Amino acid sequence: MVRSADARASDRLGVMMRVRVWWLAAVMGLLAVMLAACDDDAADEEAEDAPDEEAEDEEDEEDQNAPDEEAEVDTGDLELAEDGEMLVGSDLEFPPFEFIDDDGEPDGFDIDLMNEIADRLGVEVEFQDASFDTIFTQLASDEFDTIISAITITEERMETIDFTDPYFAANQALVVVEDSDIAGVDDLDGADVGAQAGTTGLDYATENFTESEIVEYDSYPAAFSALEGDQIDAVLGDLPVASEAAEDSDALDLVEEVDTGEEYGIGVQQGADNLRAAISDAIAEIIEDGTYEEIYTEWFEGEVPEQFRN
Ligand code: ARG
Repeated sequence: MVRSADARASDRLGVMMRVRVWWLAAVMGLLAVMLAACDDDAADEEAEDAPDEEAEDEEDEEDQNAPDEEAEVDTGDLELAEDGEMLVGSDLEFPPFEFIDDDGEPDGFDIDLMNEIADRLGVEVEFQDASFDTIFTQLASDEFDTIISAITITEERMETIDFTDPYFAANQALVVVEDSDIAGVDDLDGADVGAQAGTTGLDYATENFTESEIVEYDSYPAAFSALEGDQIDAVLGDLPVASEAAEDSDALDLVEEVDTGEEYGIGVQQGADNLRAAISDAIAEIIEDGTYEEIYTEWFEGEVPEQFRN
């Protein structure tokens, strides 16, 4: 159903694309590393649990390419709608986490991370554009195997979906036009404040900016355009996205960070425990072996937050 022409015909970007992961190469690579680790002391069971470093100085990885079903990730355990393929829903309008690049491909921090995770699980990944406002119900009704979309882990969302371990931490931030009278959240009385529908930013604004008019947009780019066009007075949104919007536009300024202490997780269907655990394990591995830092520094300035440092 999700692959029907109807699904593509939405007035949003309607992007459904297939990102081929060289899973075979990845699995073989993983196999080689695991075999090398075991080979270190084949008789010693504990060697299997040894950290990866033990494998790194092995020279004979190539020789260990013998077929070995046991070492391979059993993708059947992941209970994906289609074995070996993970269908990922994402609202692809949230740069630098997810967006459509100049080649028409999904790109961004989340996309790189998800590709890396899929690689390690030995599955192909296919991203499908979705509206953030409906992404949770779509996941819950089996339209996707997972969702990644800079999604803040909240109690409310956990009533309908499950989350992996966190992979990012973020606050909110307030963006206004240059030379605005608004210098921070204390100046918002009577102001029109924009945020994306279904987001924690919208919730925060509604709950806290009680003297403001809160205006909902389908996407953050739409909210920032409205701000640039003087249709609204401010936008509240996730700090990394607000910061990119302000950097990209001469007309916009980020004036205040709002400490909400949010953490992003990847969403899976309730009870998809194998998949959730496998993704969380992959995240831990990606942090541990330095890949997280590589991806992070490609998209963000500054140091990797301590929580995600190896
Ligand atoms: N972190 C916020 C939330 O979970 C905003 C996420 C919006 N993501 C997106 N791709 N539009 O509500």
